[in-house]
Amino acid sequence: MTRIAYVDGAYLPFDEAGVHIEDRGYQFADGVYEVFALIDGHMLDVDAHLKRLDLSLEKISLVSPVSRPALLVILNETIRANNIKNGLVYMQITRGRAARNHAYPKTLHPVLSVTVRPMNETYRDHVAQSGIKVISLDDQRWKRCDIKSISLLPNVMAKQVAVEAGAQEAWMIDEAGLVTEGSSTTAWIVDAAGKLRTRPLANDILDGITRQMLFKLVDELKLELDETPFTIDEAYASKEAFSTASSLIVMPVVDIDGHKIGDGTPGPVTTKLLQSYKISNS
Ligand code: PDD
Repeated sequence: MTRIAYVDGAYLPFDEAGVHIEDRGYQFADGVYEVFALIDGHMLDVDAHLKRLDLSLEKISLVSPVSRPALLVILNETIRANNIKNGLVYMQITRGRAARNHAYPKTLHPVLSVTVRPMNETYRDHVAQSGIKVISLDDQRWKRCDIKSISLLPNVMAKQVAVEAGAQEAWMIDEAGLVTEGSSTTAWIVDAAGKLRTRPLANDILDGITRQMLFKLVDELKLELDETPFTIDEAYASKEAFSTASSLIVMPVVDIDGHKIGDGTPGPVTTKLLQSYKISNS
């Protein structure tokens, strides 16, 4: 299969696709991104992702180089050109090319790029059957984690520590000892009282689209949702834990820092949320 990437107005063979060495995304991580799940040829929760993209752009005073309808055409054309039905769509908009100075001229031309890659859903579902291990570590990120910035070094470092420790995700902890979120996921527990808990939205976490979608399922599933932040000790003592992201949907967490969660297998609430999310998108 020939892979195609979209970069700044052109659909290019994947191996030839690139941005200029003085693109501010490359030199300063000056840009924002989105990741969409692609299921049976359709991107999930497109409107919510594009709304968040608009907010991220606005928060860093960046204007998209294309209109929303044009962006949709580009995303779909990149999917079509790659002939991928199930996978992940990645897009980013950087501030564009300029001589390296921290401050930027207002006249820059922002650069949009889009890639698509297949995803082995069978493998993801297989992992979800047994669940993943999480480690906790200090949240070393900046104070604007609500922006979906391509500047992800602390997230990358946290994930790498987790993987090298034999886990699959890192949950990060703020100065008050409360869990913020995963390195690339939203963190959730079903606490000892049976309440579904996840941190409330603020500048210290990303407004996850999967989080938004699960909120819509809560009533239907008669779950009690409580947006009170939780400590790592509450997570150790939780009945169930899971991480959410567009790439994972709902991923059960069965071990945190060596503490078995529940009976060490994916719990009923987690499983129900995963099934309901899948059904609502089928
Ligand atoms: N990560 N929190 C962080 C820090 C994330 O990077 C992500 C997503 C999420 C979940 O957001 P959503 O449900 O909208 O995918 C929460 C993406 C998938 C990534 O960086 O690959």
